[in-house]
Amino acid sequence: MPAAAVDPWERHAGWWQEHFTAGADPEYTEQIEPLVRAWLPPGGTVADLGCGEGQLARLLAEAGWERVLGIDPSAAQLALARARGGGPAYVRGRVDAVPLAAGTVDAVLVCLVLEHVADLDAALTEIARVLRCGGRLVLLLNHPLLQAPGSGWVDDHILGEQYWRLGGYLTEQVGEEEVAPGVRLPFVHRPLHRYLNGLRRSGLALEEVAEPAPAAGFQARAPEYDAAAEYPRLLGLRCVRAA
Ligand SMILES: C[S@@+](CC[C@H](N)C(=O)[O-])C[C@H]1O[C@@H](n2cnc3c(N)ncnc32)[C@H](O)[C@@H]1O
Repeated sequence: MPAAAVDPWERHAGWWQEHFTAGADPEYTEQIEPLVRAWLPPGGTVADLGCGEGQLARLLAEAGWERVLGIDPSAAQLALARARGGGPAYVRGRVDAVPLAAGTVDAVLVCLVLEHVADLDAALTEIARVLRCGGRLVLLLNHPLLQAPGSGWVDDHILGEQYWRLGGYLTEQVGEEEVAPGVRLPFVHRPLHRYLNGLRRSGLALEEVAEPAPAAGFQARAPEYDAAAEYPRLLGLRCVRAA
């Protein structure tokens, strides 16, 4: 198959695995992993949708969940997930067409996935369908307000100004982002109300919100971010599936 015809996440699975898993990324070790542990105390069956190479699925198994299912469309991610073991079972599938029966899971985790999915409403409908009533969703996103495309810290030495620039926010944009040289991945920007209203319409009631400050280990690697510590990179939403 020509390289361009291969799904970008399949093509760049190795890049993700090298830079963001197995302790390589302080945003996972210092921020995402503790939040997932705190928000998903063990109890029954949990599905990690868009699980990648399974780092959070393994964490949930280790935390004591009885059954952990990792689901991802990328064969390369699932191959490494299976090789790394640790207890979860893995199935190939998508968050917008989840290969599970209705009402069969007690919790769903979706971490840094929906920004790459074109049909948000299909994904939220599927999440609500597979959750039992009273089950929990933990959704982690790049902060939709502060990390909109074109946003970032500006240090203007000529004018002597430092500020956080906000990129275009209100317009939903489907595009590609060059996240590293030669690594282009699909990225969908949506304003926050699209997520919050979509969750509510799908019967997923908001319980808790987290906007953690940038991780210390991230800032140690990006000192220019020091002055921007007031601007979160991550948004966490915990929801409960209404009856
Ligand atoms: C940024 S990685 C996050 C992986 C994992 N959730 C983690 O936090 O380690 C994004 C993942 O989303 C997956 N993905 C892309 N489109 C998807 C879709 N429609 N449904 C489910 N997963 C998808 C990719 O294959 C990739 O593994």
